[in-house]
Amino acid sequence: MANRGGFSSKLGFIMAAAGSAVGLGNIWGFPYEVGQGGGAAFVVIYLIFCFILCYPVMVTEIAIGRKTQKNPVGAFNDLGYKKWNIVGKMGILSGVLILSFYNVIAGWAFGYILEMAAGNFNIAEQFNTYVLDIFKVGSYGLLFMATTAFVVSKGISGGIERAAKLLMPTLIIMILSLVIYSFTLENSMAGLRFYLVPDFSELTGSVIYNAMGQAFFSLSLGMGALITYGSYVGRNDNIITSAAFITLADVGIALIAGLMIFPLIGYMTAGAMEDVGRGPALIFVTLPQIFGSIGGVLGSIVGTVFFTLLCFAALTSTVSLLEVPVAYVVDELGVRRKRAVWIVAIGIFIVGIPSLLGNGYSDFFTSFITYVGAEKATDFLSFMNHIANDTLLPLGGCLIVFFAAHIWKKHNLDEELSHGSPSYKGSFVQKYLNFAVSYLAPLVLGILFVFTVLSTFFGIKII
Ligand code: PHE
Repeated sequence: MANRGGFSSKLGFIMAAAGSAVGLGNIWGFPYEVGQGGGAAFVVIYLIFCFILCYPVMVTEIAIGRKTQKNPVGAFNDLGYKKWNIVGKMGILSGVLILSFYNVIAGWAFGYILEMAAGNFNIAEQFNTYVLDIFKVGSYGLLFMATTAFVVSKGISGGIERAAKLLMPTLIIMILSLVIYSFTLENSMAGLRFYLVPDFSELTGSVIYNAMGQAFFSLSLGMGALITYGSYVGRNDNIITSAAFITLADVGIALIAGLMIFPLIGYMTAGAMEDVGRGPALIFVTLPQIFGSIGGVLGSIVGTVFFTLLCFAALTSTVSLLEVPVAYVVDELGVRRKRAVWIVAIGIFIVGIPSLLGNGYSDFFTSFITYVGAEKATDFLSFMNHIANDTLLPLGGCLIVFFAAHIWKKHNLDEELSHGSPSYKGSFVQKYLNFAVSYLAPLVLGILFVFTVLSTFFGIKII
């Protein structure tokens, strides 16, 4: 047990887990989902998911991890329910799939640091050709994966925790300075209005599904990333408060990322929020245009800071994504950590190649699959995203809470949670968690999982 390593303190764990949560999902995904999903109405639904449904899942994952001190597969075995380790296996598969395409996007972001530093704002219009230069963006991706592997190979306290303690505060300083700057621009208030004043007529079924997928993805839930991190947490640490802090940090940074981006868009569109290229392109097309319109050295500095912060956020997340399969290989197959890290990292990089090619370079991967009832084909990267984020994560989350409440049993979960949290037993939080973990979360997540699959892949819209 001793040679598995662990976090050096409660703060170290919180930083690393918050680092896992805060990533492309917050700074790239959240604003684009808000843009696509009707602004503030999406934000409200997202917040409900995070606090009411996802927080209980997070607490459960960390508790299972700490109890067993194992990776997601080993954890189910260790509790004596071998059949259930399929949930852990599904989690590891999700981790592999997510990291494979996440790393491609992180590679693009890394390249943008160089472009912004060189003052090449035209990259915005050239984004479609930029991603076609697969040897260039592929080597950025390789570099990103190698950096991730390097951090993970240094172990828990010496690598993951140390990187998070350095990167997270820097990220917060960068993001806050960009928020302040964006508030000084003309028409920033039009952007803020779009972001903060809800219009519930925009609320549709797919806004709800997207909010659920986004909440799971952003909080790193449903695939055992927090079972794994939980397995390195000290016996006397308080899981209840740590999880609350991680949720608040993640939601807070997503909200702040919105405060940075929507005023910038208001500025560029002179207040006409409709004109904006929303969707995934937001960060790679719209933002560099905005930095270009600021122009000169200032534009270059703002752009470089922005993409550096994006990469820092991504790195603490890729580290946690890689740690999940690595912990599995180390614990279950008995491979040495360093060796496991490099083998798994190379494997995942290879799995990511179709996501790299599917943005126009290869027709096959660009028009990879056409869902039933869809007008257009879906590219490989988006397909991976739909499979992993929108389906496997909520399903995993649903099964994890169901398992904890009804198979492993509530009182065991409560027992684990009360270690390090003396006032837990008998508290309101305990009552709420019992209800959420036993009934609310499995039911709601289960139903929404079915609805999402029907709607995304089969064009059957129930709500
Ligand atoms: N939460 C990370 C982000 O928002 C992504 C992630 C998902 C990391 C699942 C680990 C596990 O970017």
